[in-house]
Amino acid sequence: MTGAIEKLLMETIGLDSASVGPTVVRQAVRDRMEACRITNPQAYREHLTVSSQELQELINAVVIPETWFFRDREAFTMLARHARVHKPAQPIRVLSLPCSTGEEAYSVAMAMFDAGFEAHEFKIDGVDVSSRNIATAERAIYGRNSFRGSHLEFKDRYFEAAEGGLRPIAGVLKQVRFRVGNLFGSRAFGQEVYDILLCRNLLIYFNRELQDRALSCLKDLLAKDGLLLVGPAEAALPRLHGFISAEWPLAFAFLKSEAVKTTAPKVPAAVPVRAPSPKVNKSEPLLPFRPTIGNEGRRQAPTKPLAQASESLIAVERIANAGRVKEAQEVALAHLKEFGPSAEIFYLLGLVQDADGSAPEAARSYRKALYLAPNHREALVHLALLLSKQGDHNGAEALAGRLGRVQKRSGG
Ligand SMILES: C[S@@+](CC[C@H](N)C(=O)[O-])C[C@H]1O[C@@H](n2cnc3c(N)ncnc32)[C@H](O)[C@@H]1O
Repeated sequence: MTGAIEKLLMETIGLDSASVGPTVVRQAVRDRMEACRITNPQAYREHLTVSSQELQELINAVVIPETWFFRDREAFTMLARHARVHKPAQPIRVLSLPCSTGEEAYSVAMAMFDAGFEAHEFKIDGVDVSSRNIATAERAIYGRNSFRGSHLEFKDRYFEAAEGGLRPIAGVLKQVRFRVGNLFGSRAFGQEVYDILLCRNLLIYFNRELQDRALSCLKDLLAKDGLLLVGPAEAALPRLHGFISAEWPLAFAFLKSEAVKTTAPKVPAAVPVRAPSPKVNKSEPLLPFRPTIGNEGRRQAPTKPLAQASESLIAVERIANAGRVKEAQEVALAHLKEFGPSAEIFYLLGLVQDADGSAPEAARSYRKALYLAPNHREALVHLALLLSKQGDHNGAEALAGRLGRVQKRSGG
C-alpha cells in the first residue's frame, strides 16, 4: 500500500522515496493513519485523493526540512555581489524555493544589507511545499540548530532574544514574504519572474526525469538575465539545461545568459565582518578569503606550500561549480597526487563523483574525507544521503546520529 502512496508523493511533489528511505514514508503513513483514526491502508489512500488537507499533512510529515543560516556561505556573498553589479531598475526580486523554515531567505536579506543595499532595493519570496515549515518561517524563532559553523558574527547584528530562541530583527523580517507552494504547481507563482533564484538541496530528492522537469520550471521562473543557485551535489544539472556557470568557487551559481557574468575576485570574499545592520545601512570591507583546507581534523601535512595547494583546490571547485564533473574528477585526482590527501579534496572528489552518478566511488571518497576529518559535517550529510539512496538505512541513520553529536558538541 505504501507503494501507491509513494507514487502519489512522487507525482505530487517529486519525492523519490528511495532518497529519504522507505522507512520515513512508511512511518509517516502509519502516524497519519493513526491521527485520522483510519485503520485500513486502502481507505487512507482513498482519503488522500479527496482530502487536500490530509495530503498536506502527509507532505509535512515526509519532507526533510534540514537547513541553517548561511548554509554554503559563498552563495550569499556571490548573490549579493552579483546583485550589486547587475542592479535592475526595479527592486531586485529574489526567490528562495524551497525555503524550508526560512533560514535561507532571511540569510539573503542579511547578505543584501551587508552588501550595502537598502530595504526598498530588494524583496524576497520564500516558498515551500510544507505548510508546517512555512508556519515556522513566519514565526521566525530559531534555536541552536539554525546557527552552525564558526562564522556567527551576524547573530549579534541581526537577531534579538525572543521566547524560545532568537528572532531576526524587524528590518530583516519585513524583507521576506512566505507562502506555501509546490515547485511543480505553477499556481503558487502566478506570472512573477525573479532576478535571483535559490533552489538548493531539493533536486537531490528527485529522480532524473523529475530533475529535468524541475529545471525547466526553474528556468521559467527566472528573468532572462537571472541567476540560479543550487546545492553542492546538484551542480552538474543546470549546465544540462543551458545554464552557464558563474564560476564563483563554492557558490554553485549559474546564469541564464553569458552577458551578466560577474567575475569572482581573484581571492573570493568569504565572510563579511562588522557589516552594517539595516539600521545603519552602509557597506564595510570584507574579510579576505580563507582557504577551506586545513580547517578540520587530522589533515596530512601538504607536500607543497599551503598557498599552492589552496589555489589548486579552488581550481577544482571552480571546475566542479561549472558542472564539468568529469574534468573536475581528473583535476581532483591530480591535486591528490601533487599535494597529498586532505579531507577537503576527498570531500570535493566525492561531490563530483556523486554529481556524476558514481555512487560507490563517491561513498568511498566521503569516507576518506571522514577518516581524515571525522567531524566534517558536509561529508557526513552527503554520505548519509547517498547511503539512504542506496538503501543502507542503518548506515545512513548511524551517520545522522554522528552528525547530531558533532552539532551538539560545537553548539550548532
Ligand atoms: C533540505 S530542505 C532545503 C532548504 C534550503 N533550500 C537549504 O538548502 O537549506 C528541502 C525542502 O524542500 C521542500 N520541498 C520538497 N519538495 C518540494 C516541492 N515540490 N516544492 C517546494 N518545496 C519542496 C521541503 O519541504 C523542504 O523544506
